[in-house]
Amino acid sequence: MARTALVTGGTRGIGAAISTALKEAGYAVAANYHGNDEAAHRFREATGIPVFKFDVADYESSRRGVAAVEAELGPIDILVNNAGITRDTSFHKMTPEQWRAVISTNLDSLFNVTRQVIAGMRDRGFGRIVNISSINGQKGQFGQSNYSAAKAGVLGFTKALALENAKKGITVNAVAPGYIATEMVMAVPEKVLREVILPQIPVGRLGQPEEVARCVLFLVSEEAGFITGATITANGGQYMI
Ligand code: CAA
Repeated sequence: MARTALVTGGTRGIGAAISTALKEAGYAVAANYHGNDEAAHRFREATGIPVFKFDVADYESSRRGVAAVEAELGPIDILVNNAGITRDTSFHKMTPEQWRAVISTNLDSLFNVTRQVIAGMRDRGFGRIVNISSINGQKGQFGQSNYSAAKAGVLGFTKALALENAKKGITVNAVAPGYIATEMVMAVPEKVLREVILPQIPVGRLGQPEEVARCVLFLVSEEAGFITGATITANGGQYMI
């Protein structure tokens, strides 16, 4: 039987590419979303992938949301923690709301959602968890002290959870995309993108969401069982560690 995957923030941007790639590879996929009903509806119509509305920043909402997914599709074998937002501004201007929104959506969400599926994965002796970090969690980014903090936290979480679950057939890995041509990146002021960011990318272009999705597809495969606690970067050579 096909393995079941849940992709948070799975109806737009990189998440939509991941959901679609997983479906095309034969997985049963559920795509979570929170705010944009219209985009989620369009995504469901275009792909046939069921969508589930819940707030990954909220524990109780995540509990109910994951329960709804499992009631419809069965136990979740693969979790892709992808949902994320930006609230870019210099730290000296940042409000508590801008800090909290990014930390809760981009980092608390990993606790809120993963906590719902980990026991089942441990019981069944199989699991694949992929957390979407960012180049800006690895190197820091002007205007993103909140986002960089959350995305660096994602990497620490990934390694600790990988250690705790290595003997249970569960791998936990991160993918750290660079600047990918999504709505999120297109919201960066055009002048900053063209004059500051693009010249930093050796490959000379933005990435495509499908180029990130392929990394996820590899990590969730049965054959990737020896890879855990790792970070795959897909950033056009912008940052090498
Ligand atoms: N590096 C160095 N200096 C910079 C800078 C940068 N990246 N960005 C802005 N500055 C400079 C400005 O030019 C300005 O200088 P002057 O005062 O001499 O003109 C100074 O810093 C202060 O600028 P502002 O007061 O206007 O700063 P701000 O608080 O309004 O913030 C900003 C501006 C939000 C940081 C804006 O520059 C911006 O959006 N930058 C891009 C941030 C970015 O890359 N975000 C990534 C979003 S995509 C994503 O997150 C996905 C992913 O994982 C990669």
